[in-house]
Amino acid sequence: MNLIDRISAIYRETFGYAPAHIARAPGRVNLLGEHVDYNDGFVLPAAIDRATYIAFSPTNARHSTLVAVDFNQRASFSPDSVPTKTQADSSPLPDWAHYPAGVMWALMEEGLPVPSMNAVFASDVPRGAGLSSSASVEMAFLLAWQTLGGWTLPPMRRALLGQKAENRYVGVNCGIMDQFASACGVENKLLLLDCRSLEWKTLSLPQDVSIVIADTAVRRKLTSGEYNQRRAACEAAVRLLQRDLPHIRALRDVSVEEFNRLAGKLPAEIEKRARHVVEEIERTRQAEALLEAGNVRAFGRLMNECHVSLRDLYEVSCPELNAMVSIAQSLEGCYGARLTGAGFGGCTVNLVTREKAHEFSRALAERYEAETNLHPEIYISHASNGAELLK
Ligand code: GLA
Repeated sequence: MNLIDRISAIYRETFGYAPAHIARAPGRVNLLGEHVDYNDGFVLPAAIDRATYIAFSPTNARHSTLVAVDFNQRASFSPDSVPTKTQADSSPLPDWAHYPAGVMWALMEEGLPVPSMNAVFASDVPRGAGLSSSASVEMAFLLAWQTLGGWTLPPMRRALLGQKAENRYVGVNCGIMDQFASACGVENKLLLLDCRSLEWKTLSLPQDVSIVIADTAVRRKLTSGEYNQRRAACEAAVRLLQRDLPHIRALRDVSVEEFNRLAGKLPAEIEKRARHVVEEIERTRQAEALLEAGNVRAFGRLMNECHVSLRDLYEVSCPELNAMVSIAQSLEGCYGARLTGAGFGGCTVNLVTREKAHEFSRALAERYEAETNLHPEIYISHASNGAELLK
């Protein structure tokens, strides 16, 4: 049974009638520009054909009641209980409910109506795998409340509210990339976003190139600690560099030349983190022209360089991600491979000649399993549309 049929059936069983609406919001894969969104840099993600699906209807009840199929749990909360992260019966909200409750909180902060709903949701975006399962949940609920609330926000505004929910309610200091890609995705396109101006455009890959996602089966710990520490290191670098470059607001404003000149003044760890960011932003600047010229080979080399930098400078890789990337890079037809998303486990993204994509996926899975004893999931992905109401 597909996910839409499944959540519809569970909805009918739970609430006794058919859901009024169905919406979907996709996960994303990022091709280049990793850990630069919160440094005002450029990112190059695509929404993927895996998504969170939600079946929902308005209700006159005081509380919204949500069933999370993937957790086999339910939670109820209202505008009164959301600020204290509690449910109707005063018990604490389960962790998964912090995402929809955070969305409700962010909408309340905007003064927007958030009518009560009954909802059932499920996702085929793997959790903790670097494919933005949480952003997809946030964007699905934003669309659901927009549908019931009688207001309309442009997709980028919904993305910003999802980010606010995640920063201020869930407590992860993430940038805008994931929510942006989930809200604004375009079928068959890569999205190039300037994370400072929030201007964006689409770019295409040549027809004969596939995006292959390889899941290491290693899950990142559900702590946000390491992520927030990386972000703090970038902010510390900006403060230190401002002594010589008073005009800078973010690492985006530091050129590679300026950085090389001043790097010696930074503590070693902060230097490594900031070097990744400055050089990665430079790579994304080059990427646009390369993709417009259809130069996938050179673009793939930037992806490979990005992985080395994430591994050695930003230190967000792990042995399994490194194994998956090395094997991929040794296979025929692979232009580039690197970890995608925040890191510490999860997935790699690979650009592969279309005619070799199946063979590549099979060989990658076999060799990865032989090396690590872990069973990976590998799939050829298609760039999809952003969050949309299906019914
Ligand atoms: C997570 C965050 C994003 C971004 C990436 C790393 O996915 O949610 O904002 O910082 O990590 O590029």
